[in-house]
Amino acid sequence: MSPLLPNAGPPLPQTHTPVNPPELFRLRNAILAAHPDGKVSHEALQAIAKTENVPASHVYASSALDPNITLPIETETLFVVCTGACQAQGALENLDAFIALCNTREGQGKKLFDVLPRNCLDMCPHSPVTISRSALGQVAHPKLKAADIGEIVEQLCDAAEA
Ligand code: FES
Repeated sequence: MSPLLPNAGPPLPQTHTPVNPPELFRLRNAILAAHPDGKVSHEALQAIAKTENVPASHVYASSALDPNITLPIETETLFVVCTGACQAQGALENLDAFIALCNTREGQGKKLFDVLPRNCLDMCPHSPVTISRSALGQVAHPKLKAADIGEIVEQLCDAAEA
């Protein structure tokens, strides 16, 4: 890798199919049609996913296309999930795992966390990338696997409870 472009590297093999850009823009428009001011809750994004019959991750990823769309950050623990080119290595699978886990934890009365989609976290050779901010500090999670998300969430949310 070039020292001038530390995050530039050879293309990674594609393991997942990204959502077509026109579909993402269609979903972005659906968000703005329902929420013209761009202020949207997690519940609202998931309701749009149900109405549109798509995974919640697709609607979240579409929200990251438009800086006018904002999601609330309400807890100490935040996961920022790259939904840009990282889609090709499983970012949307990871995002759906975070969303499902958040919903499950809410039902169990456990400490919650926030999820934000972003188009690139500038760590592309380590795709799929998530960055967390919690009581333990800010940490990058390169090449994150959906199977590992439960344990990571548990550890970071436990730290927030301490
Ligand atoms: S596209 Fe995901 S880190 Fe750059």
